[in-house]
Amino acid sequence: MTGALHPRSTEISFLLNNGTRMPAFGLGTANPPEKLAETKQAVKAAVKAGYRQIDTAWAYGTEPFVGAAIKELIEEGVIKREDLFITSKVWPVMWDEAERSLQQTLASLGVGYIDMWLQHWPLCYNKQKDEHGVCGLARNPEKPDGEPDYNLDADWIETYKQMEKIYLDPTDHRVKAIGVSNFPIEYIQRLFKECRVRPALNQVEAHPRLPQLEMMKFCHENGMLMTAYSPLGSHGAPNIKLPLVQELSKKYDSSPNDILTSYHIRQGNIVIPRSLNPTRISSNIQFVALSAEDISRLNDIGVQDPKRYVDEKWNVIVPGFTGAGPAL
Ligand SMILES: NC(=O)c1ccc[n+]([C@@H]2O[C@H](COP(=O)([O-])OP(=O)(O)OC[C@H]3O[C@@H](n4cnc5c(N)ncnc54)[C@H](OP(=O)(O)O)[C@@H]3O)[C@@H](O)[C@H]2O)c1
Repeated sequence: MTGALHPRSTEISFLLNNGTRMPAFGLGTANPPEKLAETKQAVKAAVKAGYRQIDTAWAYGTEPFVGAAIKELIEEGVIKREDLFITSKVWPVMWDEAERSLQQTLASLGVGYIDMWLQHWPLCYNKQKDEHGVCGLARNPEKPDGEPDYNLDADWIETYKQMEKIYLDPTDHRVKAIGVSNFPIEYIQRLFKECRVRPALNQVEAHPRLPQLEMMKFCHENGMLMTAYSPLGSHGAPNIKLPLVQELSKKYDSSPNDILTSYHIRQGNIVIPRSLNPTRISSNIQFVALSAEDISRLNDIGVQDPKRYVDEKWNVIVPGFTGAGPAL
């Protein structure tokens, strides 16, 4: 395998703007609601295969299962807490309760700190009770007409300011770095003006159909990393079937999964593929040193024919946003 000449994707890390390092490759855990409990075995398989970054969120409902896996891995002597890099996020129903969100995240994960804490969306929802929701709150509150129940009197920057306050408190060591997710460039520029801490990264959907070239350039020019979510195209992994991905898989003697994740790492971005399949988890970790020309060909797919698989109406679900959205 060509990849065998290079470090594995799980062995590569990038420098964050707080001076610490973040593994370039991690396991995503936004698993289907009916399979949340399977998250535990997936995390255990991943860590045993060498993964050192786990991406979770209050909203996924997977934090307790990530936590159960970490507890067993530590008890089995496979890792220590400090060997792992854990990312979690504040969901917009908790927009004015970052402290409460953090407490619930730490309790569910059973850890004393997280390595990266993200504002999940620049949005504010109204709170609606739902006994089946995460911590008794509806995850996606809706108005009677079925439209999202946004709190349009609230300002999304409140969440980041609350997160920043916790991060900057010298006596509080529960959060090692803060960042954002699903933020358009204009929103990050507002953070630069009105907040003290520059986000360490922006986590956005990115893959050959949505190469995010403008966002990547912006992040890299401003001391931030970009994390690529849904690298396979989310449910059913449609990007695996792209003819160029298949062609490069043969050319580099690698799996399509490895082509799709190395594509990001090669460009200096973090990538967080999801799987519940232990064989896929442990076998798709080869780093493929794609040529600059092949990266460019992959980017051209989305430049010519862009496709957003998750939250297709992204431009309209960020109220008040009038720009074109990142690279779509
Ligand atoms: N910040 C945000 O708003 C946000 C939004 C979306 C996602 N994320 C994060 O990014 C992570 C990854 O994104 P994602 O979960 O949307 O999807 P993804 O990683 O692009 O794709 C995951 C899907 O691909 C399937 N898959 C993997 N390899 C396959 C193969 N060789 N053949 C067929 N199917 C295959 C997996 O099924 P198996 O389980 O069967 O392998 C799973 O259903 C999430 O889990 C989450 O942590 C963040």
